[in-house]
Amino acid sequence: MNDTASDFEAHDFFRTDRFIDDPYVYFDHLRDQSPVLKEPHQGIIMVTGYAEALEVYNDPARFSSCMSTTGPFAGCPIPIEGHENEDISELIEAYRDQTPFSDQLPTMDPPTHSAHRALLMSLITPKRLKENEDFMWKLADQQIDTFIARGECEFMDDFAQPFAVLVVSDLLGVPPEDRTEFRKHLIRVEQESGGAVVGGTDGEVTHGPLVWLYDKFTKYIEDRRQNPREDILTGLANATFPGGEVPEPIDVARIAANLFAAGQETTVRLLSYAFKVIGERPDLQKRLRDDRSLIPNFVEECLRIEGPVKGDFRLAKMPTTVGGVDVPAGAFLYIANSAANRDARKFENPGEFQLDRKNARLHVAFGAGRHACPGAPLARAEAVVSLNRMFDRTSDIRISEKVHGPADARRYGYLPTFILRGLTHIALEFDPVEASAQ
Ligand code: HEM
Repeated sequence: MNDTASDFEAHDFFRTDRFIDDPYVYFDHLRDQSPVLKEPHQGIIMVTGYAEALEVYNDPARFSSCMSTTGPFAGCPIPIEGHENEDISELIEAYRDQTPFSDQLPTMDPPTHSAHRALLMSLITPKRLKENEDFMWKLADQQIDTFIARGECEFMDDFAQPFAVLVVSDLLGVPPEDRTEFRKHLIRVEQESGGAVVGGTDGEVTHGPLVWLYDKFTKYIEDRRQNPREDILTGLANATFPGGEVPEPIDVARIAANLFAAGQETTVRLLSYAFKVIGERPDLQKRLRDDRSLIPNFVEECLRIEGPVKGDFRLAKMPTTVGGVDVPAGAFLYIANSAANRDARKFENPGEFQLDRKNARLHVAFGAGRHACPGAPLARAEAVVSLNRMFDRTSDIRISEKVHGPADARRYGYLPTFILRGLTHIALEFDPVEASAQ
């Protein structure tokens, strides 16, 4: 075993900061041995191959999502030991209510998941998404107005965070007079806790922002059921499950909270990475400025090479195999989206950013299967709108050397979690374009 290999194996991916700056070397090391491999510290089966990730995502009959955001790290109340050779589906159901975030869409399995997911999809119709996208153009401009004259910004605080909160607020019809409160509350909480569903290397998980959102939306729904108006919240209040049953207000509130929790942190990291590339690669910036039709594939390549969700978990419901490797019942699998997206069997020269990559959009940054991200169109639109408007309002975007150091010795910080991949901040400089010249 060479030095690097023994160094990698000495570190517990889920507990160390060793791979925070560059998780890809570790994932490559695993995949080189096998795209499905049990790591020695936690006994978690690491899925780093593209085909193998899809196999797991697409088979909820064999793999439960019951602890998809926490894995075993917030405790596993299901007594799985001793059942490695049995079907533990009933055992999972018996203990499901005690598992972390069991009331949340990402942790549900069919048939409950199917019903709640349909409820969510009825809230984000193509018509609503279109209206929301129209709003994004105005919002992006308003946000840019707050810092453009300075010729520099901390892009996360000045743009991405408020933009992402206000986009989802608009999507769900949060009344304009309440939006400042949402923005203040959600951004503050997000910065303190690292988000609602984030797995830190200390294994901590917090429920804080979700409880606040549950309360807010339960009140909205109750109010609109009693006093219907011509607004989006009244539409949410009247949404029904596919069978026609009327959900409890808290069911709708959970869905709304999910949209904030799952859509905020992730989108902020996508936007910040996209602008890091813009700042680091003047050649790409020029091509995109000259031909805006290249922006959507640029966004896909950002998602592929540096997707904001590093990975999530599944629990094997029965003894099975994945990619020819035995998986006992009760095993946790970590599906490393970031690794699958750099699998050379799927993406040629996977570590290289290729603006013209033909199959960039086949990445699994949004997961796959029944839980595949329902916010994907929103996140994509947020990135496309932000890039376009920043290009319209500036003539040259650069990385701040004051903050990140010179081009040959950059310093970037990354979130210390095993769920999310993303910059902690990104400082940009730019030349504002006169309003009349736009
Ligand atoms: C670049 C931004 C985003 C990325 C990379 C991302 C990634 C993901 C991934 C990987 C999953 C699947 C998790 C699993 O299978 O265990 C997921 C689910 C989810 N995402 Fe996103 N997401 C993004 C933005 C958004 C946005 C903007 C929203 C909504 C406003 C959103 C809402 C959700 C919800 C509600 C789920 C759970 C779906 C389910 O369990 O059926 N996401 N996301």
